Amino acid sequence: MSVEQRDPHTGYLTTGHEWNGITELNTPVPRVVYFFLIVTALFSLGYWVLMPAWPLGVSYTKGLLGIDQRATVAEKLQEAALDRATWSKRIETESYQQVEADPQLMQIVRQTGHTLFGDNCAVCHGLRADGNKGGKGFPSLVGNTWLWGGDANAIAETISVGINATHPKTRTSQMLAFGRDGVLKRNEIDNVVAYVRTLSNPAAAKDATPQEIAAGKTVFAANCVSCHGENGKGSTEAGAPDLTDPFWIYGGDAQSIFTTVWGGRQGHMPSWEGRLSPLDRKILTLYLVDLRKKTP
Ligand code: HEC
Ligand code: HEC
Repeated sequence: MSVEQRDPHTGYLTTGHEWNGITELNTPVPRVVYFFLIVTALFSLGYWVLMPAWPLGVSYTKGLLGIDQRATVAEKLQEAALDRATWSKRIETESYQQVEADPQLMQIVRQTGHTLFGDNCAVCHGLRADGNKGGKGFPSLVGNTWLWGGDANAIAETISVGINATHPKTRTSQMLAFGRDGVLKRNEIDNVVAYVRTLSNPAAAKDATPQEIAAGKTVFAANCVSCHGENGKGSTEAGAPDLTDPFWIYGGDAQSIFTTVWGGRQGHMPSWEGRLSPLDRKILTLYLVDLRKKTP
């Protein structure tokens, strides 16, 4: 074994070991490695002292800082639970006006209401509550025209009992089948359709003669005003829609209106009394009242 041999290429000392002509260099560990070893060792020592670290059978070293994640989580959970209990009780007991006047409660109504609506109502009314844009048999709930009324009490009642639903107190929506049931003749229906179209769209007057429209007006006065009102503005007593606005449940083109008057319509809205808790229904009511307020 030779002593103090230096490798001619790298300048390092060799360990003196040699295998098949390959000598092993005595390369020192770089300083930076020692540095990091020391730093991490110091860090872990500090961590053991400050934070919970070593298990001691039934307990563990608690650390000087007294930080306990389990306690922190438990605390947060308790805060959240308390919060929910408080707000749900307030929404349940306070009047619609009181809840509406409280920005914090309304924040919860908007969030929870949006989720409830998405889970239960959006299939029919659309995620934005705009009735899937209309024309498909599902009314918009964001406009200012309502079948049964857009104040909180009316909305709450509609949600509870439904429309043409199985609830004993259900609202009943009956648009008669004037054609199929032979109440009106074919030309009377054509005329009343022409007249109804002009209510929301004066330009539609050019699709029929003034005589036809006048005849349609007479048919309307005799057969339709009992539910849709003298001027076609609808009635929340009968759940009959306003025929003068641009929003249509089933479509406002001549063909759709004809189909409505010929075959009648009986939209079906489920009753939610047995399906959603009173709190959930109240939140949904407040959510819809709030949505309506945001609609111009
Ligand atoms: C199965 C489809 C369907 C579901 C689900 C549904 N609705 Fe309806 N909803 C309707 C239909 C259809 C009408 C209109 C009935 C009619 O034509 O008279 C309606 C009408 C309404 C009305 C009355 C609107 C007015 O102008 O007076 C309100 C309020 C309403 N729905 C709220 C809700 C809420 C809240 C939910 C969820 C809890 C919901 N709906 C779920 C189909 C549905
Ligand atoms: C017994 C009350 C009643 C009478 C009478 C009645 N309607 Fe209706 N009408 C309704 C109701 C309720 C609806 C809503 C049906 C629904 O949403 O399912 C409706 C819906 C309509 C619609 C659909 C509106 C839309 O947004 O798509 C048209 C159009 C209409 N009626 C026209 C007429 C005409 C024309 C007459 C007379 C020939 C008439 N109605 C007579 C109760 C009535």
